[in-house]
Amino acid sequence: MAKKKVSICYKCSNCGFVQPRWLGRCPECSSWNTLEECITDPNALSSVAPGQIASKVKPMPLSDVTAMDDDRFSTGIEEFDRVLGGKGATKRSAILLGGEPGIGKSTLLLQTCAAFSKTKSGLVLYVSGEESSSQIKSRANRLNVDCENIQIMPTMRLEDILDALNELKPALVIIDSIQTVYSIEGGIIPGTVNQLKYCTNELVGWVKEHESVLIMTCHVTKDGNIAGPKALEHMVDTVISFERNNDEIRFLRAYKNRFGSVDELGIFEMTATGLVPVTDPSTMFITRREGKTPNGVAVCAVFEGTRVFLVEIQALTVPAKSSLTRVYSDKIDSARVSRVAAVIEKRTGLRFSDQDIYINVAGGVRLTESAIDASLAAALYSARTGVAIKDGTVLIGELSLAGEIRPVGRIKQRARTAISLGYKTVVAPEKEDGVTVVTNISDLIKLELNSDD
Ligand code: TYD
Ligand code: MG
Repeated sequence: MAKKKVSICYKCSNCGFVQPRWLGRCPECSSWNTLEECITDPNALSSVAPGQIASKVKPMPLSDVTAMDDDRFSTGIEEFDRVLGGKGATKRSAILLGGEPGIGKSTLLLQTCAAFSKTKSGLVLYVSGEESSSQIKSRANRLNVDCENIQIMPTMRLEDILDALNELKPALVIIDSIQTVYSIEGGIIPGTVNQLKYCTNELVGWVKEHESVLIMTCHVTKDGNIAGPKALEHMVDTVISFERNNDEIRFLRAYKNRFGSVDELGIFEMTATGLVPVTDPSTMFITRREGKTPNGVAVCAVFEGTRVFLVEIQALTVPAKSSLTRVYSDKIDSARVSRVAAVIEKRTGLRFSDQDIYINVAGGVRLTESAIDASLAAALYSARTGVAIKDGTVLIGELSLAGEIRPVGRIKQRARTAISLGYKTVVAPEKEDGVTVVTNISDLIKLELNSDD
């Protein structure tokens, strides 16, 4: 067969994406002025990863394409599976697990290794560039995990890891952490962006060719930036972050997931014997108290993925120290708080425009759903008037600028959860079992914040 001529293409010096025409900005990683001219050999195209040489891929009808099987491995840990897309990790996929140092990434992954090996899906290889074998063994003892089917490999050299992968063909590969892995090919110093990209590319390349799942940890700085590994996010299928609130509770959340939703939250508690899944988290964001509910406190029912959580919103208002009033709220968008306060002021005459407003959410979760408006309004009104909301009440609904309480999605499920947890009154704008229907802010105040009762 006659040899085809070599042709010119343009390769991004940042992410390695190849494309036929020069562009000012790389379409893959969005970096500017990084496309450099290079020569491609069409005879060698079959050895290039799919999608790398865009010019040689021909269009085809989508109807002729066979879908990728949704073939998954359960990690053996339900909360982890939930975050990965329900039934676990998709085979041939690469997962990046980010989190600040000491949050519990290595603990979670060692527990995952043990749980995975119990599922008998195949061999587990745990590569650690950060800890020695005996350190890992002490942690395993502390966690009381069965080490029978876990192979460990304390190394930082990519070539050793790839040799082990080709020899053992493990079903689950853990790299703890990707920042410690280095290759002579990728430059000398471990941890540089070039090294990170090179090593990640090689490992992801391996997993794409095998019935295996790759999980790589990476350290994230305190402000939430995945230093360096930010550049890896587009190279992997799933990016998961391990976060904490103020205490021992840890949240596992997907930020990118090619094989599932990014709404689900996995919740664990760090105990003396490792991470324990919080199986019934519905009331974990509620402050338990003896006696009556203080003023300024209201409970709402929010969704995180498919689960309903009851969350307590706390409000405080104090006369502003200057003519400029402020809203201090980091868990609910300040603009939403200002809007709800303005609606109450306009519709009921209760003044907020000379007050500083402080909003807190128990348990430190961030609330973005519009369904929280009714309880936010009730908390604000209660804080300002000093009248507490009736005990055992959950409020659901969006507040319009006209002062109406508007329906939100899945009210039935929210109400059912609240009632099953012993709440006496569920206030919402739509008729459902056990719901007291309220459709505007004035009626809500009359019902729940009546000082004459
Ligand atoms: P680790 O998994 O080493 O964190 P990372 O890999 O993210 O840096 O977790 C370290 C912390 O977890 C450390 O502060 C001790 C605590 N820990 C427990 O509280 N209980 C346990 O059973 C284990 C193994 C660790
Ligand atoms: Mg670690």
